[in-house]
Amino acid sequence: MRFTDKVCLITGAGSGIGKATALQMANEGGKVLVIDRNPEGGKATVDEITNAKGTALFSQTDVGKAEDIQRAVDIALQNWGRIDVLVNNAAMMTFKKIVDLSIEEWDMVMSVNLRSVFLFCKLCIPHMSKGAIVNISSVHAHATTANVVPYASSKGAMEAFNRGVSLEYPPSQLRINCVAPGAVDTPMLWNNPNIKSGKEVIEGAIGKPEELAAAICFLASDDASYVNGTTLIVDGGRLDIL
Ligand SMILES: NC(=O)c1ccc[n+]([C@@H]2O[C@H](COP(=O)([O-])OP(=O)(O)OC[C@H]3O[C@@H](n4cnc5c(N)ncnc54)[C@H](O)[C@@H]3O)[C@@H](O)[C@H]2O)c1
Repeated sequence: MRFTDKVCLITGAGSGIGKATALQMANEGGKVLVIDRNPEGGKATVDEITNAKGTALFSQTDVGKAEDIQRAVDIALQNWGRIDVLVNNAAMMTFKKIVDLSIEEWDMVMSVNLRSVFLFCKLCIPHMSKGAIVNISSVHAHATTANVVPYASSKGAMEAFNRGVSLEYPPSQLRINCVAPGAVDTPMLWNNPNIKSGKEVIEGAIGKPEELAAAICFLASDDASYVNGTTLIVDGGRLDIL
């Protein structure tokens, strides 16, 4: 029970990796704020947790909107009074060459994937006394493909942000790490038009959301007390294949 009574905020917890992480943290005693823009998915995660006698609340939040992020943090503080764990997991992709990409599309990816990480950290860290933050990056931060440049850029920047923030606090107060998944069996993977069309073929193992949740929960728990400012690549060896 690594998360007993710990207040855990998880973005994008209505599906995939975020949902698996929410279920695992709740199963280990955490009080989970399920943050998602999609109410069906988010409420389904909360129902699953509460049906199993766990504790969870839903916050309908578009992480691309600063005022929504403030509201989500307020919900956690009003209900539970503090924040122990933050998982920045929600993200989006575009599938265009950069010359075809509008400024609005670029800005939206950066707001959802990167600015949200800054804002959640900015608003949560003052309320964390022995906190842990896990940011969900991607193998695309290290080896990418064509036509997903905003996504890859946002994940690369996230890893640099992660290293920088780890220097601003003693690890006794805050640890911040990234998990970089490979191909994981979630809607995000199968909705990728490059994969749907067969243009991009996945070689190697496809991970289960629970396998990512295991790594995220490790980094968010005291088990990882000596791990800070780094990225754990959880990709079944995919980066060796690329
Ligand atoms: N699935 C993969 O193969 C893979 C690979 C590498 C990295 N990742 C990363 O893992 C993380 C989770 O992805 P997943 O595969 O579980 O995806 P998913 O599509 O299963 O879930 C993403 C969730 O985020 C929510 N979301 C999207 N935009 C949002 C927004 N603006 N505000 C609030 N919520 C929003 C969606 O509603 C959804 O519930 C992402 O950061 C993604 O980049 C996934």
